[in-house]
Amino acid sequence: MMLEAKNVSKVYPSPQGGLPVLKNINLKIPKGELAAIVGPSGAGKSTLLHILGGLDSPSEGSVLFQGQDLRDFSPAQLCRMRNQKCGFIFQFYHLLPEFTVEENVLMPSRIAGKCAQARARELLSQLGLDKRLKHFPSELSGGEKQRAAIARALINQPEALFCDEPTGNLDSRAGGEIGSLIKKINLEQHTTVVLVTHNQELTKIADRVYYLRDGALVN
Ligand SMILES: Nc1ncnc2c1ncn2[C@@H]1O[C@H](COP(=O)(O)OP(=O)(O)O)[C@@H](O)[C@H]1O
Ligand SMILES: [Mg+2]
Repeated sequence: MMLEAKNVSKVYPSPQGGLPVLKNINLKIPKGELAAIVGPSGAGKSTLLHILGGLDSPSEGSVLFQGQDLRDFSPAQLCRMRNQKCGFIFQFYHLLPEFTVEENVLMPSRIAGKCAQARARELLSQLGLDKRLKHFPSELSGGEKQRAAIARALINQPEALFCDEPTGNLDSRAGGEIGSLIKKINLEQHTTVVLVTHNQELTKIADRVYYLRDGALVN
């Protein structure tokens, strides 16, 4: 199993006592599956995605990544796991504005102690950004920014790709292109994908759809 959530709950502290945001989530995502998590705003989708990707930890329960309990990882091991095995794509791209497209894409490889320039250029060319290497994020359209973010997410050849509303800031055409790209990566690289969205159209690329409502999975 690529990813497994076992009785995952999350409570955020608040002055009125704890705010329960995830309630006893159980799911299993096999290697190579494209799993979508859908639900209304505030349902807890981003919180769940962050917990599955090791960016946040549950209040109770556990997440297994390739069979390993994330609670057993030291902070440094967790960073290494995210850097080398996970790719992340966000609604607002999170590109670093003071770096060029190429430098943004190279960042995770530099953190891993490599410099994968040939791979970065190949990825950017495959994503139609070969003329944009030296451009800054502010010079790109939304769809181009997301394609640059995808190249960055793929630079270290991740086992799992975590996407949080990747089309949420794009028009339907650019969003459709991003959806097709995510599906292509999933099929060609066998990358496991966890895709959070409230875009029904985008769920068509999923092998499996989980519905999250008020912090609980429903059928
Ligand atoms: N860091 C935080 N501290 C407190 N409450 C939070 C925090 N992050 C999210 N929440 C709350 O948790 C709930 C779920 O948020 P989120 O996971 O972002 O939902 P979604 O992505 O489905 O819109 C919301 O009520 C939100 O206000
Ligand atoms: Mg969200």
